[in-house]
Amino acid sequence: MIRIGVVTSGGDAPGMNAAIRAVVRRGIYLGIEIFGIQRGFLGLVNGEIIKMNLGSVADIIHRGGTILHTARCDEFKTEEGQIKALRNLEEYNIDGLVVVGGDGSIRGAYELGNKGFPVIAVPGTIDNDVPCTDYSIGFDTAVNTVIEVINKVRDTATSHERTFIVEVMGKNSGWIALEAGLAGGAESILVPEIQYDIEQVCNKLIRGHKRGKLHSIIIVAEGSGKGFEIGEAVKAKTGFETRVTVLGHIQRGGVPTAKDRIIASLLGAEAVNLLVQGKENIMVGIKGREVNFTDLDRIINEKKEFDFKIYQLADSLSI
Ligand code: F6P
Repeated sequence: MIRIGVVTSGGDAPGMNAAIRAVVRRGIYLGIEIFGIQRGFLGLVNGEIIKMNLGSVADIIHRGGTILHTARCDEFKTEEGQIKALRNLEEYNIDGLVVVGGDGSIRGAYELGNKGFPVIAVPGTIDNDVPCTDYSIGFDTAVNTVIEVINKVRDTATSHERTFIVEVMGKNSGWIALEAGLAGGAESILVPEIQYDIEQVCNKLIRGHKRGKLHSIIIVAEGSGKGFEIGEAVKAKTGFETRVTVLGHIQRGGVPTAKDRIIASLLGAEAVNLLVQGKENIMVGIKGREVNFTDLDRIINEKKEFDFKIYQLADSLSI
């Protein structure tokens, strides 16, 4: 393997730059030429490929987003699009590809692997919904962004004695809501993995109010309902003054945490090692402090487990 490509795809995530840096630097360290594919799979289909050197990844480890840019690409989901992408990889004599992204991107990597092109996937999404890895790059930063907001919301909630609904991202996953809810001391955490009863959520608020709690915070994962609708329901059932904050894309930006940079560095470098060793069609993830390896066909067929223990803990601590 003498030429490796790296692409960031799907929604950006803080720490993707640290992963690109690790791929480029580990590759050059091992005497390999590295190429960056711009704008995700869209750039792969359109042949937007640039040579990377040590300088191209200088001063990026602390930056959010991705210097390679990213996109969502419907054409790549088609056979035709994938064939165009393979032709471009061939034209640049690229022998293997590192794909950094979430579930859709990993499925794309799997499709290339199925067509005989060596790929290694690295989980990168704030949603943390990729199976067989404890963390995906960007999740820790997103959770810390949400906590920062909860801290601020708490100040105004306390002053005005209000109930706040904070809607967070996560697509169909409740991981951001779960960890931010526990760390932020939320009264209730609503996630798509667990059916909730708005009656019970409101009864808990009323119980708290009766024993003197003057403000409350409910975290709603976007996959479990609309913050504004839940806010209306809470107001109607409790009569409490309620406000809603929808965090949106601020969760995708910002300086990556040390944890995200470390995971990204580990996984990016390991992805290159794997390609050099002739391994392919694998996702490199993290379990505890250890790097782990899973076949891509397993990743695309499994669902990420939800941490019900942490959910129960959060619930039991917010009585
Ligand atoms: O997958 C990351 C994510 O931010 C999800 O949490 C969210 O549902 C989605 O992407 C938003 O996508 P877009 O940036 O394309 O609107």
